Amino acid sequence: MKANNTVFLQACQGKPTLHTPIWLMRQAGRYMKEYRDIRAKVSFLELCRSPELVCEVTTFACRTIKADAAIIFADILLIAEAIGFNLEFAKDHGPRIHNPLRSDKDLSTIDASGIPEKLKYVFDAIALTRKELEPHYSLIGFAGAPFTVATYIIEGGKSKDFAHIKNVMRTQPKAWDGLMTALVDSTILYLQGQVKAGADTLQLFDSWIGILNEEEYVKYVFPYMKRLFEGLPKDVPTIHFGTKTKHLLLKMREAGGTVQGLDTDVSISDYWPKINYKPIQGNLAPEVLLEDFSTVKREAQKILDQVGNRPGFIFNLGHGIVPATPVDNVIKLIEYVHTVTQR
Ligand code: CP3
Repeated sequence: MKANNTVFLQACQGKPTLHTPIWLMRQAGRYMKEYRDIRAKVSFLELCRSPELVCEVTTFACRTIKADAAIIFADILLIAEAIGFNLEFAKDHGPRIHNPLRSDKDLSTIDASGIPEKLKYVFDAIALTRKELEPHYSLIGFAGAPFTVATYIIEGGKSKDFAHIKNVMRTQPKAWDGLMTALVDSTILYLQGQVKAGADTLQLFDSWIGILNEEEYVKYVFPYMKRLFEGLPKDVPTIHFGTKTKHLLLKMREAGGTVQGLDTDVSISDYWPKINYKPIQGNLAPEVLLEDFSTVKREAQKILDQVGNRPGFIFNLGHGIVPATPVDNVIKLIEYVHTVTQR
């Protein structure tokens, strides 16, 4: 059933809520035995392409931990595949792109036509999940931000030094603009389709944007992000997330987003006044969830103390859950945040 004015949506709009909403990035995944059992039978991409399994994984995680929102189970690299890049999730190696883009000659790899048809399996998964999910849960759709998706397309996988992407970005304007434009255009269509299918919020993951300095961000990324946000449906809130972004946060806010995602390095009490207490999401260190619960509670409380009674806060981690996290700690964290913020 469709979500209607959930606690989570109210917080995204900066309105006072009955309790502080909380969900956790990567809340459906390897830290759960039920997820690992499904993955023992199907590959990661097979799972992403099965609306029934995606619905099961997404709803099971959200109901088990009692988060305020579910995030549709998918991956930021599905769009790279949809525009022509050969994607593989190799066992123990993470994602790989077998035909990386390194120059403007490689722009011929890109075929950005038919995006809604190619990614229909994600829309089907969202529609099914929305139908199954109780209406008090929000359903978050998402995409990778063009820069972060481009890091995989240009590097060919996860990178330590980001040498290729920096080279293309700085020295090959035609290749850079061609790729970023294709990503912006197809991401807009992809996210519009997700909203039509039933997502009530959108998150953009710019996970690796923090490797750029402010000047580079402004020159090579900002115009694309601005255009992307302008192309998104106006009736759903958007969350703009990145890591190591302390030096970029004000520019990222300017680029767009209803809610600014904060990683662990950011002090809420320093940053929040600078943006006039516009809605924020964050920012407990994921590693804290590996500790005993008294530590989890203490660290969570530090964040809640910085927030005080102000509306417009969504509790989350500063980055995704790590696979070794005990599920019980996650359940107790969510229960704790709900209980102590009851108004
Ligand atoms: O619960 C959720 O948050 C929804 C699902 C989700 C996945 N990936 C599932 C996944 C989301 C939101 C993502 C986003 C994503 N994917 C990002 C941005 C978020 C972030 O953490 O910064 C990035 C950079 C990717 C790219 C990606 N996908 C990587 C680097 C990996 C390998 C990770 C690893 O540790 O092995 C993936 C695979 C992936 N995506 C898994 C999951 C659950 C693990 C796959 C498996 O089951 O083996």
